[in-house]
Amino acid sequence: MTIRNTANRFTGRTALVTGAGSGIGRTTALAFAAEGAHVVVAGRRREPLDETVRLIEAQGGKALAVTADVARAADVQALVDAAVDRFGSLDVAVNNAGVFRGGEPLAELSEDDWHTQLDINVTGVFLALQAEIRQMRTQPAGGAIVNIASTFGVHSRHPGAAAYAATKAAVSVLTRGAALDHIRDGVRINAVSPGATDTPMSLDAGETEADRAERVRAELPLGRISATDEVAAAVLYLASDAAASMVGTDLVVDSGATA
Ligand SMILES: NC(=O)c1ccc[n+]([C@@H]2O[C@H](COP(=O)([O-])OP(=O)(O)OC[C@H]3O[C@@H](n4cnc5c(N)ncnc54)[C@H](OP(=O)(O)O)[C@@H]3O)[C@@H](O)[C@H]2O)c1
Repeated sequence: MTIRNTANRFTGRTALVTGAGSGIGRTTALAFAAEGAHVVVAGRRREPLDETVRLIEAQGGKALAVTADVARAADVQALVDAAVDRFGSLDVAVNNAGVFRGGEPLAELSEDDWHTQLDINVTGVFLALQAEIRQMRTQPAGGAIVNIASTFGVHSRHPGAAAYAATKAAVSVLTRGAALDHIRDGVRINAVSPGATDTPMSLDAGETEADRAERVRAELPLGRISATDEVAAAVLYLASDAAASMVGTDLVVDSGATA
């Protein structure tokens, strides 16, 4: 038996993170860079991506910012091409970009909000998977993909989130099917389902961070939401060689909400 040294698990590898200009995506990008990966950070807005690159370079890492809308196939293909052109391979991809629209009962949700969530949360993950798998299966070492779903999908229930939950359930199920289709191509695909995590997305309408802390003290078994680095730790584990036999799983990080 060999016990792996888990420091610098990604030295010399290229990791792509979508939605890396903020929140869980930025922390995940920083975590990959801290363990030696060359990181490609993507999102629609340039400035937040440049800031993520600056933070990575400040800790001695290498990163490339690429603006891309994951709902557009041409953008996603150009993103994968840019990663390979710059760093030579695509070893890890984290499909994290996502949006929440809702709060109101389903009958009041606008058709625009429905389509926006489907386009980004579901079609965006589908298009990214296709471009990433097509690259990774050409590489001798294959690759690992982690999709960011949510406990709101298949794991739990929340009023005012029916459409968002449907998109995140789709991410969990798409993960499982894609994993089965492509593990023999050397591409290992899993998901992480965060519960409430420390970004503005977990604030209820009109709520401050202090209000949220008070609410979750009673609501969550742990008494607090997850930090973004706690979600990133699960992502890095699934992307690492230590998780070689994790295929199509959906790892929940939720302060005990679904325990
Ligand atoms: N925070 C939570 O409590 C929680 C819980 C469960 C799951 N999640 C999931 O975790 C992921 C990250 O969320 P977060 O909380 O970190 O929120 P966030 O800070 O709003 O991050 C979302 C990121 O996705 C990017 N993005 C949105 N639409 C995009 C598109 N069409 N193409 C490319 N990038 C796009 C955004 O940048 P641009 O606007 O510049 O594109 C943004 O940087 C999401 O998938 C979310 O559903 C979050």
